Amino acid sequence: MHTAWTQKHKPQTLSEIIGNKDAKQKFLTWLKSWNRGIPKKRAAFLYGPPGVGKTVTVEALAKELKMELVEKNASDYRTTEAIKRFAGLASQYATLSGGKRLILLDEVDGISGKADRGGVRALTEILKTTRSPVALTANDAYNPRFSTIRKYCLLIEFKKPTIREIVSHLKKISAREGIAADQEALKFIAERAGRDVRSAVNDLQVLAQGKKRLVYDDVVWYAGRDRKEVIFNVLRTILYSRDSWEAKKAVSAADVDPDMLFNWIYENAPYHLTDPHDLVKAMDSLALADIYRKRIRATQNWSLLRYVIDFMTSGVAVARQRTKSSGWIPFRFPEKIRFLSSTRGERALQSAIGMKVRRRCHMSAVRSVKEVLPYLKIIFENNSEMAAGLSKWLDLDENMIEYLAGNKKQTKMIVAKIG
Ligand SMILES: Nc1ncnc2c1ncn2[C@@H]1O[C@H](COP(=O)(O)OP(=O)(O)OP(=O)(O)O)[C@@H](O)[C@H]1O
Ligand SMILES: [Mg+2]
Repeated sequence: MHTAWTQKHKPQTLSEIIGNKDAKQKFLTWLKSWNRGIPKKRAAFLYGPPGVGKTVTVEALAKELKMELVEKNASDYRTTEAIKRFAGLASQYATLSGGKRLILLDEVDGISGKADRGGVRALTEILKTTRSPVALTANDAYNPRFSTIRKYCLLIEFKKPTIREIVSHLKKISAREGIAADQEALKFIAERAGRDVRSAVNDLQVLAQGKKRLVYDDVVWYAGRDRKEVIFNVLRTILYSRDSWEAKKAVSAADVDPDMLFNWIYENAPYHLTDPHDLVKAMDSLALADIYRKRIRATQNWSLLRYVIDFMTSGVAVARQRTKSSGWIPFRFPEKIRFLSSTRGERALQSAIGMKVRRRCHMSAVRSVKEVLPYLKIIFENNSEMAAGLSKWLDLDENMIEYLAGNKKQTKMIVAKIG
């Protein structure tokens, strides 16, 4: 089974958490101050953008200080009742075994001030009287609904780590996974993720898992119109919603390229529809979509596109019937698109040579690439004299010559002969 890298490579100690030096220090000092008695502020409010280490800081520190961590999250604050239920925990000094306890109220953004005033009041009461340290986390501590809560908390701001810090974190993870990753590729991922560490690590997993090497070309496709969150959301709807209409709507709302989406679905369906019956149904639908795709290409009759969309969205969505959900499965990057993007430079060079041949030989550039280029390669690899003459005649530049010659040494010889 797959594990998320954010989980697998989650920091275990405070020092492994990148960036946020001041925030970590402030939290550590406050937590240690409990050893000298109950401090003025009994709760710490860790706030900041998503995926920068708020939750993991609390978890790592509890581990390091050997405290028992009691984690509560959104579903525990849904009602006043639910909040009161865990108030008891906070009224005790220590755990049954005499250890120290740290209570984490994670992602309190979910508490709504208006709908359930009682909830905020109940929570405030806990913060005022707790005898165990309480840590709260949220994205926006300055939301008016927290105005009372804020008074009883030590506010600790978390910030996005720098690109450099994130790159070195990604580098470490790559190394542990046995992947040689280029600095440039990692930098691109970090920037693209908007310096959200969780998102950057997720991206790294999608792009690099199973590879030995990660280069810039593997990641640049991100820059395109079809941002990966958009694709992922659409994929999730198609593979998990079981709702044909939702699936279709997701695609039209997201405005993704149907060909690209087809590859994504095709590549990912087998990992997410693990029941063979379901997979057969999904693949049947994809096959039908593909038939229409081919027909469009041949006839340019684009009105058929709606059938492509129907089969690959609704058809696949309703295929999920017996598959049991089995935890988190990452989406895979389609091999076909990976291949196309990794050969983009080469293809561009080929067609540029094709254009040159076309001018001289009066044949289409596509045919030139298919029929002439292989022979040119043989000549350029073996006969520098003839290659020099051809280069002049076709007006090839040095990049093209190097591509045809296959190596630098041969290129030098040819260029020298052109004079
Ligand atoms: N500063 C960091 N250093 C190292 N890893 C990090 C850092 N921030 C996030 N991560 C990675 O991302 C995952 C999620 O981080 P975390 O849960 O702490 O985010 P958060 O700030 O609580 O975000 P949210 O506001 O969405 O709850 C962690 O498990 C870890 O793998
Ligand atoms: Mg969190």
